[in-house]
Amino acid sequence: MKARWSSRLSFIMATTGAAVGLGNIWKFPYMAGENGGGVFVFLYLCFVVLIGVPTLIAEILIGRLGRDNSVKSLRKLAKSAGASPKWEYLGWWGALGLVLVLSFYSVIGGFSIGYLVEMALHGLKHLQSVKSVELFFQQFLADPYNLLKWHTLFMFSTLGVVALGVRSGLERASNILMPGLFLVLFILMVYSVIVGNFAMAFDFLLKPRLELVTPMVVINALGHAFFTLAIGAGAMLVYGAYLPQKTPIGSSVCIIAALDVLVAIFSGLAIFSIVFAYQLPIAGGPGLMFKVLPVAFSHMPAGQWFGALFFLLLLFAAWTSSISMAEPLVVLLTDRSKMNRTFAALIVGLSCWLLGVCALLSFNVWSEVRLFGCYNIFTAMADLTTNIILPSGGLLFVLFVGWVLPEPKDRSLVIRNVVWFQLWRFLVRFIAPAGILVCFICNLV
Ligand code: PHE
Repeated sequence: MKARWSSRLSFIMATTGAAVGLGNIWKFPYMAGENGGGVFVFLYLCFVVLIGVPTLIAEILIGRLGRDNSVKSLRKLAKSAGASPKWEYLGWWGALGLVLVLSFYSVIGGFSIGYLVEMALHGLKHLQSVKSVELFFQQFLADPYNLLKWHTLFMFSTLGVVALGVRSGLERASNILMPGLFLVLFILMVYSVIVGNFAMAFDFLLKPRLELVTPMVVINALGHAFFTLAIGAGAMLVYGAYLPQKTPIGSSVCIIAALDVLVAIFSGLAIFSIVFAYQLPIAGGPGLMFKVLPVAFSHMPAGQWFGALFFLLLLFAAWTSSISMAEPLVVLLTDRSKMNRTFAALIVGLSCWLLGVCALLSFNVWSEVRLFGCYNIFTAMADLTTNIILPSGGLLFVLFVGWVLPEPKDRSLVIRNVVWFQLWRFLVRFIAPAGILVCFICNLV
């Protein structure tokens, strides 16, 4: 594979773009709300540091050593280490995860387009009370054609960027979009600190009440750490394959993880300040952000435009992440079938679009359909990937790097400092696999 990021900064921007997305702004607040607040955030932070960061380094390293799509990279490296070429199945497992994530992700990405258009065209006069926003959201979900329109737009615009290739598509999009998002999020947080109930939000999100730990909270926090860091499915592996030869991985990964966590905490604080100020229900589920933020925007000076800008940037964050899900699939398909990039993007887009349609119907026409006894189609797809496919993929990635591959010859290409390098090896070999296994077992018993 010949494509490379043009600089270390571009690599950091693109990987941060993959990590920072709907997971931070849409998912993190409602997961925290449903899982005990501070205790979820505390576990999530521990998992990011002890398991997420070492796994992310491992995944990017596989990409850089293999320099190919995830399946081929794993096969090549396994063979050269004298291990079974069956490790390539891990690449397929990750690809399955990416297909599922991209499908439901596009539905929520579509919601942001819908809200953006609503704010820009109709303003916020009809969205001033908590009740009217709730009603608007219900009507928004109830109309499958409306959701279908936005989902289709989101999916095909994502695949359009991917079809353009690494430098003119992926790299350019992230360099422009990411800094804008940070700025708007910061302004939103300052605003909610001033007008919202910041003290309660802070207390709720950042004071761990350990008595609230349950196996479900543990597995949700672990899954969320994998989801926000975009690890366990091979997306970061492929981004690592485009890494210029001399870039050390460790320091870049720490920047990416720090930005990822900061965005999540900022959004959580902004959203919960408003939730508490307006006495909205904490456990608002996947609709939380869409029900809370319009209330805040409608009371802000120039709120219509600020709201539109927010949803525009949310859309950008969602795009950069969904690009990172589609890219590995497109690369895999072009390598396997020899079809060109544009055609492969079209096939990936169509397949994920179709699955996404099933997910969006679970908000209306198929709302009664249950899978595995209790989940609707959307939550089944979201929970299966987040809590099972990504962590199990991550487990196999760390086992592969920690126990199958030989220790990297030139350690400075991974982490320059010897002590940090040794710590990373220890985390990858022992702590990360044990941690993931314990979480899985906890959840089974
Ligand atoms: N990290 C992305 C987010 O937080 C989601 C993602 C998951 C991206 C898996 C790529 C792979 O929104």
